[in-house]
Amino acid sequence: MPQAYAEILNDLNQKVISAQPQDVLQFCANYFNQKLEEQRIRFLASARNTPNREIPQFLPAYTHPTISISSPKVPHANTPAASSPDHSMDSDSDSDSDDDDDEAHEDPSPLLSMPANYMRGRRTSVSAESMVPSHQNYVKTVIPKTPEQRKRIELSIASNFLFKNLDEDQHEDVVNAMAEKRFRSRETVIEQGAVGDFFYVVETGTLDVFVAKNGNPSEKVFEYGPGGSFGELALMYNGPRAATVITTSDVVLWALDRITFRRILMENTSRKRRMYEAFLETVPLLVSLEPYERHKIADALESVYFEDGQTVVRQGDQGDNFFIIESGEATVTKCSEEGEEFPMPGLGPG
Ligand code: CMP
Repeated sequence: MPQAYAEILNDLNQKVISAQPQDVLQFCANYFNQKLEEQRIRFLASARNTPNREIPQFLPAYTHPTISISSPKVPHANTPAASSPDHSMDSDSDSDSDDDDDEAHEDPSPLLSMPANYMRGRRTSVSAESMVPSHQNYVKTVIPKTPEQRKRIELSIASNFLFKNLDEDQHEDVVNAMAEKRFRSRETVIEQGAVGDFFYVVETGTLDVFVAKNGNPSEKVFEYGPGGSFGELALMYNGPRAATVITTSDVVLWALDRITFRRILMENTSRKRRMYEAFLETVPLLVSLEPYERHKIADALESVYFEDGQTVVRQGDQGDNFFIIESGEATVTKCSEEGEEFPMPGLGPG
């Protein structure tokens, strides 16, 4: 048995024994996903040869310690495998926050080299944390709904990236917990500075987002339409609402309570944003975006690994994905109508 394999199994065994998860498969899946992400972060740090690169702060309005990519925090042996390596913006210790992390320690291992099969066709953020182990006494929120309401929820979340990759139970729990809320035009749904209670998904209508910074009058920074979602930041970081959200038409929203949001949607969302934020800041095409807009892009990203010589996009095919090169290089060619191939400028990271 390869030594590395034995070590991983040993570590996983200890975590399973200590957490006693009900959903063992999900727990193990989360464990391996987290390991892949830690490996990916170490690989990228060493590939860029910037071992002490700091990840910038999530939002200027909050303060939290920075994380060093070269020595990512890894969970203690008795930490649930699926928990995030950093919830450093969490400030309270309320009753539902047993999903918060235990103290993390620095990984003493040297930077790893890239394994031969690293990230091949893998999606690193495939599952949201089930959190089953730490919520055995948790009473699920179930708001009765008609089949017609359920259908409307399904349609509203169908194209929303935050709801991708939920397993069946998680999906059911989310739909059960959602509450229908209706607002007239020009009503305030969220007030900047208020305490976070719900996360919202837009079924119909439009809303504007305003942010007031440094005592200046608030400015419009974003708008939402059907399928959009907002109100996650205060729930994720136990901070005040970072923006004011006002309806600009009659609106139907689906509201998810704070505890269900944290239990099911938070882990995957914050993990992805953390993973990609430093990289997205370096992408020239995205430089002019607001930090929050880059977070929304991070929500939609999935890592895909291509081997040298593989075709990523073929001229004439229908476009279904937009790609950003995180590491590596690509050549570009263009065919004339006569079928003659011309080299174009190549592409690199960003
Ligand atoms: P939250 O802080 O909980 O409440 C206000 C929400 O507005 C916030 O979560 C985000 O979901 C959303 N929002 C949209 N644009 C921004 C932005 N530029 N800065 C902060 N929050 C924003």
